[in-house]
Amino acid sequence: MRRSLIAANWKMHKKIDEGLSFITGLKEKYPRTHPVEVVICAPFTMLFALAEKALGSGISIGAQNLYWEKKGAYTGETSGQMIVDAGCEYVIIGHSERRQYFHETNVEVNKKIKAAHAERLNVIFCIGESLTEREAGQTFTVVQKQLIEGLEGISEDALESITLAYEPIWAIGTGVTATPEQAGEVHTFIRKLIREQFSDPAAEKMRILYGGSVKPGNVDQLMALDDIDGGLVGGASLELSSFLQLINFKSS
Ligand code: 13P
Repeated sequence: MRRSLIAANWKMHKKIDEGLSFITGLKEKYPRTHPVEVVICAPFTMLFALAEKALGSGISIGAQNLYWEKKGAYTGETSGQMIVDAGCEYVIIGHSERRQYFHETNVEVNKKIKAAHAERLNVIFCIGESLTEREAGQTFTVVQKQLIEGLEGISEDALESITLAYEPIWAIGTGVTATPEQAGEVHTFIRKLIREQFSDPAAEKMRILYGGSVKPGNVDQLMALDDIDGGLVGGASLELSSFLQLINFKSS
Protein backbone atom coordinates (compact mmCIF):
# COMPACT_ATOMS: atom_id res chain seq x y z
CA MET A 1 0.00 0.00 0.00
CA ARG A 2 1.29 3.45 -0.91
CA ARG A 3 0.99 6.01 1.89
CA SER A 4 -0.69 9.17 0.59
CA LEU A 5 1.33 12.37 0.63
CA ILE A 6 0.06 15.92 0.69
CA ALA A 7 2.84 18.39 -0.05
CA ALA A 8 2.53 22.14 0.30
CA ASN A 9 4.44 24.19 -2.25
CA TRP A 10 4.54 27.67 -0.77
CA LYS A 11 6.44 29.00 -3.80
CA MET A 12 7.65 32.57 -3.08
CA HIS A 13 5.27 33.24 -0.20
CA LYS A 14 5.53 33.87 3.54
CA LYS A 15 8.04 35.40 5.90
CA ILE A 16 9.78 33.39 8.61
CA ASP A 17 7.36 34.25 11.41
CA GLU A 18 4.39 33.32 9.22
CA GLY A 19 5.98 29.99 8.33
CA LEU A 20 6.74 29.24 11.97
CA SER A 21 3.24 29.96 13.18
CA PHE A 22 1.84 27.75 10.39
CA ILE A 23 4.05 24.84 11.57
CA THR A 24 3.08 25.44 15.21
CA GLY A 25 -0.61 25.28 14.30
CA LEU A 26 -0.15 22.26 12.03
CA LYS A 27 1.72 20.32 14.73
CA GLU A 28 -1.26 20.71 17.08
CA LYS A 29 -3.59 19.12 14.53
CA TYR A 30 -1.31 16.51 13.01
CA PRO A 31 -0.92 13.38 15.14
CA ARG A 32 2.13 11.26 14.33
CA THR A 33 -0.25 8.39 13.56
CA HIS A 34 -2.00 10.37 10.81
CA PRO A 35 -2.49 8.19 7.72
CA VAL A 36 -1.33 10.94 5.34
CA GLU A 37 2.32 12.03 5.10
CA VAL A 38 2.79 15.81 5.11
CA VAL A 39 5.63 17.83 3.58
CA ILE A 40 5.99 21.62 3.61
CA CYS A 41 8.16 22.98 0.77
CA ALA A 42 9.08 26.50 1.78
CA PRO A 43 11.37 29.30 0.61
CA PHE A 44 15.07 28.81 1.38
CA THR A 45 15.19 31.64 3.94
CA MET A 46 13.03 29.76 6.43
CA LEU A 47 14.00 26.11 5.86
CA PHE A 48 16.31 25.81 8.86
CA ALA A 49 13.87 27.46 11.25
CA LEU A 50 10.93 25.37 10.01
CA ALA A 51 12.89 22.12 10.21
CA GLU A 52 13.81 22.90 13.84
CA LYS A 53 10.20 23.69 14.66
CA ALA A 54 8.94 20.53 12.95
CA LEU A 55 11.46 18.22 14.63
CA GLY A 56 9.80 15.09 16.01
CA SER A 57 6.35 16.02 14.65
CA GLY A 58 6.32 13.73 11.62
CA ILE A 59 6.00 16.80 9.37
CA SER A 60 8.81 16.94 6.80
CA ILE A 61 10.31 20.09 5.37
CA GLY A 62 11.36 20.44 1.74
CA ALA A 63 13.11 22.90 -0.56
CA GLN A 64 11.72 23.94 -3.96
CA ASN A 65 14.90 23.62 -6.00
CA LEU A 66 18.60 22.81 -5.78
CA TYR A 67 21.75 23.14 -7.82
CA TRP A 68 23.53 19.93 -8.81
CA GLU A 69 27.07 20.89 -7.81
CA LYS A 70 28.01 20.19 -4.18
CA LYS A 71 29.78 23.53 -3.64
CA GLY A 72 31.77 26.14 -5.52
CA ALA A 73 31.58 29.50 -7.22
CA TYR A 74 27.91 29.43 -8.22
CA THR A 75 26.57 32.72 -6.92
CA GLY A 76 22.98 32.50 -5.77
CA GLU A 77 22.69 28.71 -5.89
CA THR A 78 22.03 26.18 -3.11
CA SER A 79 23.33 22.62 -3.13
CA GLY A 80 21.68 19.40 -2.00
CA GLN A 81 24.03 19.06 0.94
CA MET A 82 23.12 22.57 2.11
CA ILE A 83 19.46 21.66 1.96
CA VAL A 84 20.09 18.53 4.03
CA ASP A 85 22.19 20.61 6.41
CA ALA A 86 19.21 22.93 6.92
CA GLY A 87 17.15 19.93 8.05
CA CYS A 88 15.20 19.14 4.90
CA GLU A 89 14.14 15.67 3.82
CA TYR A 90 12.52 16.62 0.52
CA VAL A 91 13.12 18.77 -2.54
CA ILE A 92 10.83 19.65 -5.45
CA ILE A 93 12.56 19.28 -8.82
CA GLY A 94 11.35 20.23 -12.28
CA HIS A 95 8.40 22.40 -11.29
CA SER A 96 6.81 23.95 -14.38
CA GLU A 97 7.48 27.45 -13.04
CA ARG A 98 11.20 26.64 -12.99
CA ARG A 99 10.97 25.19 -16.48
CA GLN A 100 9.00 28.19 -17.74
CA TYR A 101 10.63 31.17 -16.00
CA PHE A 102 14.14 29.81 -15.43
CA HIS A 103 14.36 27.72 -18.59
CA GLU A 104 15.18 24.44 -16.87
CA THR A 105 15.54 21.59 -19.31
CA ASN A 106 14.95 17.87 -18.87
CA VAL A 107 18.72 17.36 -18.87
CA GLU A 108 19.14 19.81 -15.97
CA VAL A 109 16.22 18.28 -14.14
CA ASN A 110 17.94 14.90 -14.49
CA LYS A 111 21.20 16.28 -13.01
CA LYS A 112 19.26 17.75 -10.11
CA ILE A 113 17.47 14.48 -9.40
CA LYS A 114 20.81 12.64 -9.34
CA ALA A 115 22.34 15.29 -7.05
CA ALA A 116 19.38 15.01 -4.67
CA HIS A 117 19.70 11.25 -4.61
CA ALA A 118 23.41 11.51 -3.81
CA GLU A 119 22.43 13.46 -0.69
CA ARG A 120 19.62 11.03 0.18
CA LEU A 121 16.99 13.70 -0.32
CA ASN A 122 13.51 12.58 -1.30
CA VAL A 123 12.49 14.14 -4.60
CA ILE A 124 9.11 15.39 -5.75
CA PHE A 125 9.66 15.29 -9.50
CA CYS A 126 7.14 17.42 -11.44
CA ILE A 127 5.94 16.81 -14.97
CA GLY A 128 2.99 18.13 -16.95
CA GLU A 129 1.83 19.62 -20.23
CA SER A 130 0.83 23.15 -21.20
CA LEU A 131 -2.61 24.07 -22.51
CA THR A 132 -1.26 24.35 -26.07
CA GLU A 133 0.27 20.91 -25.82
CA ARG A 134 -2.95 19.42 -24.44
CA GLU A 135 -5.02 21.04 -27.17
CA ALA A 136 -2.61 19.71 -29.79
CA GLY A 137 -3.14 16.20 -28.42
CA GLN A 138 0.45 15.99 -27.14
CA THR A 139 -0.20 15.40 -23.44
CA PHE A 140 1.08 11.83 -23.35
CA THR A 141 4.14 12.45 -25.52
CA VAL A 142 5.19 15.51 -23.47
CA VAL A 143 4.75 13.72 -20.16
CA GLN A 144 6.58 10.65 -21.48
CA LYS A 145 9.56 12.71 -22.69
CA GLN A 146 9.80 14.62 -19.38
CA LEU A 147 9.63 11.38 -17.42
CA ILE A 148 12.11 9.38 -19.48
CA GLU A 149 14.66 12.17 -19.86
CA GLY A 150 14.29 13.24 -16.22
CA LEU A 151 14.88 9.69 -14.97
CA GLU A 152 17.69 8.88 -17.40
CA GLY A 153 20.32 6.77 -15.64
CA ILE A 154 18.31 6.52 -12.40
CA SER A 155 18.40 3.04 -10.88
CA GLU A 156 15.38 1.20 -9.56
CA ASP A 157 16.83 1.59 -6.05
CA ALA A 158 17.08 5.35 -6.47
CA LEU A 159 13.51 5.43 -7.72
CA GLU A 160 12.32 4.57 -4.21
CA SER A 161 13.16 8.08 -3.02
CA ILE A 162 11.25 9.72 -5.87
CA THR A 163 7.61 10.79 -5.81
CA LEU A 164 6.17 11.96 -9.11
CA ALA A 165 3.83 14.92 -9.38
CA TYR A 166 1.63 15.34 -12.44
CA GLU A 167 0.85 19.03 -12.70
CA PRO A 168 -0.92 20.12 -15.88
CA ILE A 169 0.32 23.68 -16.34
CA TRP A 170 -3.11 24.94 -17.37
CA ALA A 171 -4.47 23.91 -13.96
CA ILE A 172 -1.78 25.62 -11.87
CA GLY A 173 -3.03 28.69 -10.04
CA THR A 174 -5.88 29.09 -12.50
CA GLY A 175 -8.72 27.64 -10.44
CA VAL A 176 -9.30 25.21 -13.32
CA THR A 177 -8.73 21.71 -11.96
CA ALA A 178 -8.25 18.70 -14.18
CA THR A 179 -11.36 16.56 -13.94
CA PRO A 180 -10.85 13.24 -12.16
CA GLU A 181 -11.06 11.61 -15.64
CA GLN A 182 -8.37 13.88 -17.12
CA ALA A 183 -6.03 13.45 -14.15
CA GLY A 184 -6.79 9.75 -13.78
CA GLU A 185 -5.90 8.84 -17.36
CA VAL A 186 -2.53 10.61 -17.18
CA HIS A 187 -1.72 9.05 -13.80
CA THR A 188 -2.53 5.60 -15.14
CA PHE A 189 -0.36 6.31 -18.19
CA ILE A 190 2.54 7.42 -15.97
CA ARG A 191 2.31 4.27 -13.85
CA LYS A 192 2.34 2.18 -17.04
CA LEU A 193 5.50 3.99 -18.16
CA ILE A 194 7.21 3.24 -14.85
CA ARG A 195 6.21 -0.41 -15.27
CA GLU A 196 7.72 -0.47 -18.78
CA GLN A 197 10.89 1.46 -17.91
CA PHE A 198 11.51 -0.26 -14.57
CA SER A 199 9.30 -3.06 -13.25
CA ASP A 200 5.91 -4.03 -11.82
CA PRO A 201 7.03 -3.60 -8.20
CA ALA A 202 8.58 -0.21 -9.01
CA ALA A 203 5.29 0.92 -10.57
CA GLU A 204 3.27 -0.38 -7.63
CA LYS A 205 5.47 1.46 -5.12
CA MET A 206 5.65 4.74 -7.05
CA ARG A 207 3.60 7.55 -5.54
CA ILE A 208 2.10 9.87 -8.12
CA LEU A 209 0.70 13.16 -6.80
CA TYR A 210 -1.70 15.43 -8.64
CA GLY A 211 -1.13 19.20 -8.60
CA GLY A 212 -3.12 22.08 -10.08
CA SER A 213 -5.82 23.98 -8.18
CA VAL A 214 -6.30 21.25 -5.56
CA LYS A 215 -8.77 22.66 -3.03
CA PRO A 216 -10.87 21.43 -0.10
CA GLY A 217 -13.82 21.24 -2.51
CA ASN A 218 -12.22 18.84 -5.01
CA VAL A 219 -9.63 16.93 -2.98
CA ASP A 220 -11.88 13.98 -2.00
CA GLN A 221 -12.86 13.30 -5.60
CA LEU A 222 -9.27 13.42 -6.86
CA MET A 223 -7.80 11.33 -4.03
CA ALA A 224 -10.46 8.67 -4.53
CA LEU A 225 -8.76 7.58 -7.77
CA ASP A 226 -6.55 4.48 -7.55
CA ASP A 227 -3.59 6.03 -9.35
CA ILE A 228 -3.60 9.33 -7.44
CA ASP A 229 -1.55 9.02 -4.26
CA GLY A 230 -1.70 12.56 -2.96
CA GLY A 231 -1.43 16.18 -3.94
CA LEU A 232 1.11 18.93 -4.50
CA VAL A 233 -0.69 22.09 -3.49
CA GLY A 234 0.10 25.75 -4.05
CA GLY A 235 -2.59 28.33 -3.24
CA ALA A 236 -4.70 26.18 -0.89
CA SER A 237 -1.63 25.26 1.18
CA LEU A 238 -1.00 28.83 2.30
CA GLU A 239 -3.83 29.00 4.84
CA LEU A 240 -3.66 26.52 7.70
CA SER A 241 -7.43 25.98 7.75
CA SER A 242 -7.63 24.92 4.11
CA PHE A 243 -4.42 22.89 4.32
CA LEU A 244 -5.87 20.97 7.29
CA GLN A 245 -8.95 20.16 5.22
CA LEU A 246 -6.70 18.87 2.45
CA ILE A 247 -4.66 16.53 4.64
CA ASN A 248 -7.87 15.22 6.17
CA PHE A 249 -9.41 14.33 2.80
CA LYS A 250 -11.95 11.55 2.85
CA SER A 251 -10.57 8.39 1.36
CA SER A 252 -13.07 6.21 -0.41
P1 13P B 1 -1.97 25.70 -7.23
O1 13P B 1 -2.44 24.70 -6.19
O2 13P B 1 -1.92 27.10 -6.69
O3 13P B 1 -2.71 25.56 -8.51
O4 13P B 1 -0.43 25.35 -7.54
C1 13P B 1 -0.11 24.04 -7.89
C2 13P B 1 1.35 23.91 -7.90
O5 13P B 1 2.03 24.45 -8.76
C3 13P B 1 1.98 23.12 -6.84
O6 13P B 1 3.32 22.87 -7.11
